[in-house]
Amino acid sequence: MKNNIFLVFNLDEMNLAIGSVFVAFLLMSFIVISFFYFSRKKIIQKEIEKKNLEINHQKELLRSVILTQEEERKRIAQDLHDDISSKLNVVSLNTHLLNTPNLSEEELLGITNNITDLTQKALESSRRIAHDLLPPVLEKFGLHAGIEELVAEFNTSKSVHVIYKNELRFNINEIDKQLHIFRILQELLNNSIRHGKASEISIEFKTINGKETCVYIDNGIGFDLKSEDCKKGLGMKNIESRINFLNGTFSIESNKNKGVQINFTF
Ligand SMILES: Nc1ncnc2c1ncn2[C@@H]1O[C@H](COP(=O)(O)OP(=O)(O)O)[C@@H](O)[C@H]1O
Ligand SMILES: [Mg+2]
Repeated sequence: MKNNIFLVFNLDEMNLAIGSVFVAFLLMSFIVISFFYFSRKKIIQKEIEKKNLEINHQKELLRSVILTQEEERKRIAQDLHDDISSKLNVVSLNTHLLNTPNLSEEELLGITNNITDLTQKALESSRRIAHDLLPPVLEKFGLHAGIEELVAEFNTSKSVHVIYKNELRFNINEIDKQLHIFRILQELLNNSIRHGKASEISIEFKTINGKETCVYIDNGIGFDLKSEDCKKGLGMKNIESRINFLNGTFSIESNKNKGVQINFTF
């Protein structure tokens, strides 16, 4: 009898222990599953956030390309209107004047001189506008000659000294690619002068780690890369989109009063 009571007591205890182990096991499984579920959810959420950031960045780049295109169109329209249409209007008026009866020799000479003068100016303007759109030297002789001409134009100002070195051979058949690189350099040079007030600029093309690279350095006032100013500019965004087109990479180093160094591959 005494033994039976002991056995019942023991069985109860055993059932309780098994029950507790089972509950503990269930609890542990629940915790482990919840942990995996929530950490997975967190990872997916982070990935979605990252993708959204990337999409927003791409949208921002596209927006800056469209804005720049519109600005460029506005500028060309203005140039055509101010420098060409207005001159051709006066030429047209003068041509009509030629039909006036009984013009003196002197008046005739005045009108024809006016026409020649204005036509010459309109021609120069159209040449300048075409040159801005696509520098002829770039199309005829390629990027190397184009950069040499660009650098020479900047060096004539005397307020800045630009050094250009090139160890690469640009492929003359890749004119689109070359035009992107040319526009990038135009923007960088303008920024160094306008914002950086640089007096020395160096442009170097060479192979670094097997990649065709441009190393651009100025000795200007530099800027804080984290500042909002540099994020707002259209110029830098356009550079980034052009480098994306070229499947290249882009790195920028700058500090206040330490100039700027930009490396990009293409
Ligand atoms: N070489 C530079 N030296 C100093 N500041 C620069 C330079 N390049 C860019 N920045 C800074 O970055 C900003 C953005 O440049 P950018 O995108 O070209 O726009 P924008 O020239 O239209 O102002 C500039 O306003 C300037 O503050
Ligand atoms: Mg700019």
